[in-house]
Amino acid sequence: MLPDLASYCHRETLPDGQVIELRAIRPGDRNKLRDEFLKLSKATVRDRFFSIKLELTPTELSYFTEVDFDHHVALVAELVSGTSRQPAAVGRLVRKPGQPDHSEIAITVTDSMQGYGIGKIMLSHLAECARQLGVRHMDASVMAGNTRMMKLIRNSGLAYKSHLQDGINNISISLSA
Ligand SMILES: CC(C)(COP(=O)(O)OP(=O)(O)OC[C@H]1O[C@@H](n2cnc3c(N)ncnc32)[C@H](O)[C@@H]1OP(=O)(O)O)[C@@H](O)C(=O)NCCC(=O)NCCS
Repeated sequence: MLPDLASYCHRETLPDGQVIELRAIRPGDRNKLRDEFLKLSKATVRDRFFSIKLELTPTELSYFTEVDFDHHVALVAELVSGTSRQPAAVGRLVRKPGQPDHSEIAITVTDSMQGYGIGKIMLSHLAECARQLGVRHMDASVMAGNTRMMKLIRNSGLAYKSHLQDGINNISISLSA
């Protein structure tokens, strides 16, 4: 039986005491994702997409928000303050075609929320989703100068291999059962 990742929802407390909720993305997050993307700095967009993108296209917005939680899992992290929610991050895991136990992951934390520990928490929740799906490997492509992402992976406690090619660190994380 497939795990019910479409209703994934967990709360975590950041080191500074702020509370975030990590939940499954929904089609209704489309406009929020579009608007939050427009607020990202050029550096954050470049580190995530390896190029300067001005906006997400309608096709990309559909791809990013209408996921099946089997081949493609996406989580949003929101800062919780009373009944209000402020978008803080998105993380996704996409299984590789023909290799069901291999996946590609990517994380984006909004600029104002970087450095608070959200990336680290998101990585551990993506690893949890991967384990539930029986995915044993999470790969990530990280630009050579992206020290924050490299530090996050290095300090995650997860076993990984890294191979630098053409300015990109090709990371392969192996998950234990
Ligand atoms: C890379 C990214 C996901 C990390 O998330 P984050 O929430 O900023 O990172 P965290 O706060 O969880 O910190 C992760 C590690 O980086 C360190 N770090 C935080 N800010 C840092 C900074 N300005 N410079 C260097 N290291 C930093 C933290 O100390 C932490 O290490 P620790 O485990 O020793 O404490 C986030 O910065 C981001 O979205 N960047 C732009 C997009 C991107 O690069 N995505 C990754 C492509 S897959």
